[in-house]
Amino acid sequence: GNGVTRFSYGENDEKAREFIAKAAEFKGFSVRTDSIGNMYISPAESDKTRKRIRIGSHVDTVRNGGWLDGIYGVVSGLEALRTLAEYKSDRVSEVEVVIFAEEEGSNFGSTMTGSKFAAGIYGEEALDRLKGDDGNSLREMLMKCGYPPYRKEKVMWDFSDVKAMLELHIEQGPVLEREGKSIGIVDSIFGMTTVEVTIGGVGNHAGATPMRYRQDALTTAALCISEAERIAKADPEGILVATVGKVAVSPNCSNVIPEKVVFTVEVRDKQEGKIKGAIKEIEEVIAKISEQRGTACGIQVLAESKPFRMDERMIQLINKSAAEAGISHQIMDSGAVHDICVIAPHIPSGMIFVPSIGGRSHVPFEDTDPDDLVRGAQLLLDTVLNI
Ligand code: GLV
Ligand code: MN
Ligand code: MN
Repeated sequence: GNGVTRFSYGENDEKAREFIAKAAEFKGFSVRTDSIGNMYISPAESDKTRKRIRIGSHVDTVRNGGWLDGIYGVVSGLEALRTLAEYKSDRVSEVEVVIFAEEEGSNFGSTMTGSKFAAGIYGEEALDRLKGDDGNSLREMLMKCGYPPYRKEKVMWDFSDVKAMLELHIEQGPVLEREGKSIGIVDSIFGMTTVEVTIGGVGNHAGATPMRYRQDALTTAALCISEAERIAKADPEGILVATVGKVAVSPNCSNVIPEKVVFTVEVRDKQEGKIKGAIKEIEEVIAKISEQRGTACGIQVLAESKPFRMDERMIQLINKSAAEAGISHQIMDSGAVHDICVIAPHIPSGMIFVPSIGGRSHVPFEDTDPDDLVRGAQLLLDTVLNI
């Protein structure tokens, strides 16, 4: 139908977390949620004197998203932990499953919010700066959820205490399916910058105001949006992407000239310099168009993440685990961002992909062959054992 809409801190997110927590507690695991909503599942055998291996992903989704993005890595992580416990593996005492809050940025326009707090990129200031569509701040949202008050030392990871992190995820693109491979081992993850643009025009009667006297915020926005697409398409490498996925028009009425338009522009690439260059070019062109058309404009950065190359040893470890299991695999880049890319600069981290049918994701059609889902989960476990 309409796919899955499970925004962080909402009712469906709560239900999913409760379901997973119950499944974990049934096995005797303990569940802890921090003040940002990041959730940790540890086995009874947890040995605090040994460094942790964290495995996991997120459970929140985009609006009308698919059934696998994020939660596949979480349930596979839990299954790996359960298997280690059942087989009384020595490894079990080191492993912890993590669910990062608000990865998608569906609420606050900032992707990887929970993991950015865990990595120390976000702190106290972000609690008031990040605002949801309803105008409520992240701090207000967290209070409503009843999470304990923010304490940096309770949220930020002590990286000297973590040995490695692994994230299993669907590919969300067409590469593995087209190449006929079951597993992707992530090499580089693209960086991204998201900005919010506000265009201010003059609202007026749509019949009584001649075309020559208008300052229409929406037609200005339309020109700016086309320019963002032109700039991205001009990338000689054909790698850089720019997307306007969210637009709010006020008052959004057929017989009123739009007074205000707010839209997001996100730019992604493998090279930080190219992202910065494109954002600058887009900002300049928006200012120019706005001036020519007599509208006002304001631009603010909502979120940024840098491109990152995964740890070579982890790539080779996953490669070896896949080869030993006889699974077809290849090393590849990730155009999508993932929680692991803000964790990866601090500790050896590895990311495993399984194919997406038709290369589709962030839509209700998102799906993966069940055999590939199983292969991915098994490889996650094998890699944990090989660390
Ligand atoms: C996360 O899903 C992203 O937008 O890449
Ligand atoms: Mn995801
Ligand atoms: Mn996603």
